[in-house]
Amino acid sequence: MLLTDEEKRMLEGQCGKGVMKAMELLVALGKAFDAERLIPVTRTHVALSGQEGDTYWCGLLADGGARCTVIPTTNPAWDVASLTKRYEVTAEELDLALRTVDVYRRIGAALTFCCTPGLGTNIPAFGEHIAFSESSATPYVNSILGARTNRESSVSALAAAVVGKTPLYGFHLDENRRGQFLVRVEAPLGEPYDWGLLGWYVGRFAGSRVPVLHIPHVGSRPSPEALLYLGAELNTSGAVPMYHIVGMTPEAQTLEKAFGGVVPEAEFVVTKRDLREQEDAVSEKGGCINLVMLGCPHYTYAQIREVERLMKGRHVRDGVAFWILTSYDALELASRSGERERLAELGVDLVADTCIDEPCWKSFEGGLGVTDSPKCAYYRERRGQPFVIRRLSGCVEAAVCGEAL
Ligand code: F3S
Repeated sequence: MLLTDEEKRMLEGQCGKGVMKAMELLVALGKAFDAERLIPVTRTHVALSGQEGDTYWCGLLADGGARCTVIPTTNPAWDVASLTKRYEVTAEELDLALRTVDVYRRIGAALTFCCTPGLGTNIPAFGEHIAFSESSATPYVNSILGARTNRESSVSALAAAVVGKTPLYGFHLDENRRGQFLVRVEAPLGEPYDWGLLGWYVGRFAGSRVPVLHIPHVGSRPSPEALLYLGAELNTSGAVPMYHIVGMTPEAQTLEKAFGGVVPEAEFVVTKRDLREQEDAVSEKGGCINLVMLGCPHYTYAQIREVERLMKGRHVRDGVAFWILTSYDALELASRSGERERLAELGVDLVADTCIDEPCWKSFEGGLGVTDSPKCAYYRERRGQPFVIRRLSGCVEAAVCGEAL
């Protein structure tokens, strides 16, 4: 791998031990993927998770004197100040959360604690070379915005933020951004939930290949939330950091352009029945619930307003908690505009900075939850809480009657 003189100095430790560690990782990654050199990045996003390994890595770099040169935005951990008033965590869990915040602050990250950077806090332009981690963020910035990032881990994204560079391979190169197989979508698609189910369905057999979705019956452009759901699920049931929608996404104005002149490896059709069967397969059966959890990926302000509309002034059933996880700016807007207070009166709580996959939610384990996100259900079930997956209106009805149908 070709390195400039400055990069060699970094690798030899002449710019500090933290920078050396970051450079070692980028060079190892580059060699593993046959990258010929490093290229500058203009933006970074780090999926800090509040897990020991990520926090250790950040501490290693920060203690070695490293600081971010391309300031990263950060994924959510959890809102220690508000959630410890409601739920119990162990001293170790609290300590890890506090150490995580401290170490990312020390390395110079922008502590946005939000998993939808491409919608607000860190929006790349078409063609920008960036290093983003977070499974819902990478498909959005690659596919919808036309920026160029690999499916980074929190470790490699932080190394890129420190060095300001990333190895030139994968989705930074034209030839790897071409579609590989064609999906003709006949199933009707409306709200974000439908797009999420489609993403989960296609991701299951996509692996890490790039799908090209042909959806001629979708006349108007889907909402940003729908596209976010599509990518989040593609990149959870599969490992798909990029997709095309013919006539909609910027590198797929035509079917030919989406495939870059290459013949698709395969082609198949997705019907309404396929998505219905997918929903049945991925969701728990209904039953009495103790939790409604929305906001994986983080809910936007528009989605918060939609919840209030669907609640129709009704109160959440006793014994059921209803949480909407959102970004700090959407929470602020909902506070200023009144939705937060009105929803609180109905028993619906909003929280920023927080991921569904954190120890603060363990009080609900053992009971049944309901969510509109297969990704949420997937992660929560690993921690011991089964989830029913329903569209938003079904989640709201479950909250009001205490039972998911
Ligand atoms: Fe966001 Fe955590 Fe879900 S980072 S997408 S709330 S798993």
